[in-house]
Amino acid sequence: MNQSVATRIVVLVGSLRAASYSRRLLQAAIAASPDGVELEAWEGLKRLPPFDEDDEFAPGSVVAALREAILVADALLVVTPEYNGSIPGQLKNAIDWASRPREQPALRNKPAAVIGASPSRGGARTAQEDTRRVLARAGAHVLKDGIAVARAHLHFDRDGLLTDPQLRVQLGAVIAELARFASSPRSLEQSGERQPVLA
Ligand SMILES: Cc1cc2nc3c(=O)[nH]c(=O)nc-3n(C[C@H](O)[C@H](O)[C@H](O)COP(=O)(O)O)c2cc1C
Repeated sequence: MNQSVATRIVVLVGSLRAASYSRRLLQAAIAASPDGVELEAWEGLKRLPPFDEDDEFAPGSVVAALREAILVADALLVVTPEYNGSIPGQLKNAIDWASRPREQPALRNKPAAVIGASPSRGGARTAQEDTRRVLARAGAHVLKDGIAVARAHLHFDRDGLLTDPQLRVQLGAVIAELARFASSPRSLEQSGERQPVLA
């Protein structure tokens, strides 16, 4: 274990495709992260079964691994594309699994942030807003600020690096804020979005 890592952030990337802008945005987030902050993608999204409430207490190894990855992390970062104006199904499926069992969901009180990218002018903004709302409903403490990289095809170079220095700075600031958020319960009360889990 690397002792110099103060904050471990697990990342869910909502796109499964190889040339994904969302995944490039994760790489940019890793590059922009402050010292002591480690971002690690959870790579099982494609292997997750569809949510089935009958299985929520004995869901199998992939779901167990997802829940464990979120539980042990200090915070969660979601990088999402936008499909038909909202959250990609595979990402919503993962959030639903991590929101149960209701008595002890992995997402409860988890500091979280959402960022996204899209070739459109919207930058996956609507999907990000929906993801924040859904995470908050599941009990996470969600940062209001994110990054919406619009016209994503113009913002990454041939090596997949984010070309706009201002965006790189903004991205670093979001990751730093999430790390600060994770280490200070007081900041959660002040700046997080929080909605109770429905009974
Ligand atoms: C089924 C589907 C629906 C889409 N709907 C939207 C949308 O509502 N808004 C948008 O900005 N882009 C939309 N797109 C385009 C995606 O933003 C684009 O494919 C993007 O590159 C996907 O993210 P990725 O690069 O991380 O895979 C859609 C793409 C697909 C495949």
